Amino acid sequence: MKEMTIQVQVRPAEYRLIIGHDLFAVLAEELQKSPLAARYAVITDSMVGPLWAAALVSALENAGLAAEQFVFPAGEAHKTRETKQMLENQMLERGFGRDTAVLALGGGVVGDVAGYVAATYMRGVPVVQIPTTTLAMADSSIGGKTGVDTPYGKNLIGAFHHPVRVYMDMKTLTTLDERNYRAGLAELVKHGFIKDLSILDFVQEHKELILKRDAAVLEKLFEKNCTVKNDVVSQDDQEKGLRQILNYGHTMGHAIEMGSQSDFIHGECVAIGMVFAAELACQRGICSREWAARQRTILQELGLPVDLPAALEAEEILRLMRMDKKVRQGQIQFVLPTQPGEVIFGAPVSEKEIMEAMKGDAL
Ligand SMILES: NC(=O)c1ccc[n+]([C@@H]2O[C@H](COP(=O)([O-])OP(=O)(O)OC[C@H]3O[C@@H](n4cnc5c(N)ncnc54)[C@H](O)[C@@H]3O)[C@@H](O)[C@H]2O)c1
Repeated sequence: MKEMTIQVQVRPAEYRLIIGHDLFAVLAEELQKSPLAARYAVITDSMVGPLWAAALVSALENAGLAAEQFVFPAGEAHKTRETKQMLENQMLERGFGRDTAVLALGGGVVGDVAGYVAATYMRGVPVVQIPTTTLAMADSSIGGKTGVDTPYGKNLIGAFHHPVRVYMDMKTLTTLDERNYRAGLAELVKHGFIKDLSILDFVQEHKELILKRDAAVLEKLFEKNCTVKNDVVSQDDQEKGLRQILNYGHTMGHAIEMGSQSDFIHGECVAIGMVFAAELACQRGICSREWAARQRTILQELGLPVDLPAALEAEEILRLMRMDKKVRQGQIQFVLPTQPGEVIFGAPVSEKEIMEAMKGDAL
């Protein structure tokens, strides 16, 4: 038997995040100065494509860069292996080689699919995330998680693939519908609940301007938000520990998302899930009713749902939770709030407790 050590120089991932208004020309100019590739594949969906992709492609072309659009049908139902394969086939047919970079233009669905395409295309090409929803800006565009859903559950197939740059352009939010706009704010206040109370104070103080989509206020808000997300992700890139706190609200949230046949969108499910997790924590005596109530109020002020959907049976919710990635050794796990701005993660919760909380006072 022979043994040797293979030394791999793994570069620590470090990337710039640019937050501003009307950024396509800035992006194109930066790529012109320091190109990432010879060709750029702008991956987007059928909603965002007609609104923003032409402007992005022409900004790139004006800077002398080669860019083409690849569009797939909008919606979570298309965040699949089939969509990934379709995009890859189109890129191969159009001769995109190793010198490609992917520009992911869209919400969380586009970010996840395009990021995953980039993670494996020609064994990995760079991806630039250009999030266009509040949810993608608040959460999914930073942190490097990419992937697709399967009939067995959400996000079960994927890869960690950090973007080389992220451009958050507040101008793109002007076309986002009200429901998606508000839903994404759930992930943003989540960062306040778990780590930074100043986000919550800012949100409550500037509620009207936030809901009016004031670009200057949003820039400040996303800057605060991204500081928290960056702080957590940089300490635990691969979600081995601390990063799990970002799953606050997601154990119940994912069950609702899978069980409610698209009646609720992701951010709304997370909002309901956070209120539920707070109820569980109150029931255990580790969280005050006052803190749980403040979380509920903030979510309601942003026009988000906080109650479990009546149409979803408790038994069905439990069945869906058992399928979740966060189940360890048959135990359903939750992120639970303790103090304002603090949570514990990986907390095993019995099915009996979950059933009791579903009947709980706060719901
Ligand atoms: N990778 C991660 O770390 C991470 C984190 C959180 C959520 N996610 C994933 O994100 C997804 C949800 O993201 P989402 O809420 O952004 O959904 P989405 O991408 O489906 O966008 C919502 C809808 O808005 C449309 N849209 C997007 N931007 C628009 C714009 N500027 N103007 C008009 N319409 C626009 C989309 O076409 C879509 O119809 C889920 O699949 C979830 O699993 C991933």
